Amino acid sequence: MKMTIKELAKLANASTTTVSLVLNNKPSRISEAKKKEIKALALKHNYQPNFVARNLVTKSSMTIGLLIPDIENLFFSALAKKIENELRKSGYSLILVNSDDNYKNDIKLINNLISRGVDGLLITISNDSIEHKELYGKLLKSIQVPYVMVDRTLGDDKQPQVYFDNQLGGYLATKYLIDKGYKKIGCIIAKDTSLNGFYRYKGYAKALSETNIALDKKIIFEGNFRFNSGYMLAEEVVKNKCDAIFAGNDLMAYGLIRKLSEMHIHVPDDLEVVGYDKLEFSSMLGLNLPSVEQNVKELGIRAVQLLIKLLKKEKTSTKIVLNPLFEPNTFK
Ligand code: RIB
Repeated sequence: MKMTIKELAKLANASTTTVSLVLNNKPSRISEAKKKEIKALALKHNYQPNFVARNLVTKSSMTIGLLIPDIENLFFSALAKKIENELRKSGYSLILVNSDDNYKNDIKLINNLISRGVDGLLITISNDSIEHKELYGKLLKSIQVPYVMVDRTLGDDKQPQVYFDNQLGGYLATKYLIDKGYKKIGCIIAKDTSLNGFYRYKGYAKALSETNIALDKKIIFEGNFRFNSGYMLAEEVVKNKCDAIFAGNDLMAYGLIRKLSEMHIHVPDDLEVVGYDKLEFSSMLGLNLPSVEQNVKELGIRAVQLLIKLLKKEKTSTKIVLNPLFEPNTFK
């Protein structure tokens, strides 16, 4: 039978308020000895707070919803892990949902999280979101709880957001290839469907224009941030005689490299590839893939910190842009 807070308080010879203050680590004048005694009894009797009852009183579920677009992409699973860890430090639990990069799922899942009574939301929208900006705009306006757009935005500064400077990332990656003397630098990017892809492409174009290399539409390939799109585009890349490729994320770079190896084309000797996200997979597999790093630990911490401030109704800047890191010669 589950122990109630009343029974625990009786055992500890304390009030239920005292027990609640101690177990929620709230500031109080309760002695350290009493705190230790209450925590020990709670552990011994496996006391679990009844959140449903508590929510009715505090009107807070102490739960945050996190929407990500692709849980199989290590970038998002690492981000989700960091966010969960950070929320836990503030006493929040997490409900994680995955949209498979589909805007209809985004809408459904966000509404579902709200109906479950989450106190706030951390949202990474789908890769097809840009084509449905109005729909998202209406939905986000209707949300009655604090939310933060994480990593991907709709370009509306009024929406609280934390992301990395995508144009800078695309620029650094392309500049590196230009400085290495490549002349026909192609780009595999999701520029038509997501702002992240679009701005990475802008960085690519900026680096080329600075060195008077003309943009060649034949070697700008539309991908979708998934392995398969890189794999399927490899033949086009080779047919157009690219000597280097900037891929807008590591999964597309992996797909490209895989197909090139099947075509007996060696990376980087025959064709150099630069990726984005600096996924752990590369170092685990000993793949020396230069890649733009978006520190997910920093992204997760900053997103949670912003959401907590919004939950506490603290005055704060609601747009945080972080700088990506590109160190092509540091191989973990
Ligand atoms: O790999 C998925 C990509 O989409 C990442 O670069 C991240 O920025 C997300 O927007």
